[in-house]
Amino acid sequence: MTVTQPAISFDNVHQSYHGPGEAVLRGVDLTIPRSDFCVVLGRSGMGKSTLLRCINGFVQPYAGTVTVSGQRVTKEKSVLRGIRRKAGIIFQGYNLVNRLTALQNVLCGMLPGIPGYRSIPGFFTRAEKECAMSLLAEVGLEGYAGKRADQLSGGQKQRVGIARALAQDPEIILADEPVASLDPVTAEEILTLLAEINRGKGTTLVISLHQLEYARSYGDRVIALLDGKLAIDKRAADLSADDVTRIYGQGTPKGNMN
Ligand SMILES: Nc1ncnc2c1ncn2[C@@H]1O[C@H](COP(=O)(O)OP(=O)(O)OP(=O)(O)O)[C@@H](O)[C@H]1O
Ligand SMILES: [Mg+2]
Repeated sequence: MTVTQPAISFDNVHQSYHGPGEAVLRGVDLTIPRSDFCVVLGRSGMGKSTLLRCINGFVQPYAGTVTVSGQRVTKEKSVLRGIRRKAGIIFQGYNLVNRLTALQNVLCGMLPGIPGYRSIPGFFTRAEKECAMSLLAEVGLEGYAGKRADQLSGGQKQRVGIARALAQDPEIILADEPVASLDPVTAEEILTLLAEINRGKGTTLVISLHQLEYARSYGDRVIALLDGKLAIDKRAADLSADDVTRIYGQGTPKGNMN
């Protein structure tokens, strides 16, 4: 691995769930350097989630290549395992195990790196538990380790989701609308936390959002999907009203450009 190698690259990627006639991605070229905070915009159904899923191999393009830290993403199990260890993911719906505690959910993030015979609850080492506790503290949840996931607020659940992603010490965090279910104050807290991780650890962040003002305040860079291609790829600060019209058409975009 060389220093100049990008975190993620797409080379003429085409993806479809129903055959090439109904492609969602139609020739996406994209290079995301290490430590970038890249926001993915686009109207509903334009393929933001699909683009994120191509990065960790949840879906496979039918043409073109996706590369993560120099490793081409393929269907091969050992490749997928390696890619998914490099790329943690957080979701709009948190995807926690409700009957487990916050601590146990964070420990689940370590499972990909733990031998199978130790992966049943209770078999984590003291060092692993201490690491999970410090991750909970890092995301502002000191004192919540023993709380069941279903007894946490949305913001607290997303913090656990972030700590779980950090537990695998990822090079990349993929975040699919991580703040869409949160109130504005909590949403900003979560984005601030992600920005701190991005700047503090150099973790590459690829995050889909619907709120333009968040894209501009937090992102280094904005890309936007339109009809299967990248319609916009520029510095977040340079996103213009014309760009917004291009991405969202004449309708009212979610968010405020003024
Ligand atoms: N698992 C799937 N099976 C079949 N079609 C799918 C699947 N997931 C997504 N699609 C279709 O692919 C297209 C892109 O969906 P995707 O979820 O990537 O869009 P999105 O930009 O993330 O939308 P949203 O903003 O609503 O989350 C849509 O037409 C959707 O119906
Ligand atoms: Mg989506």
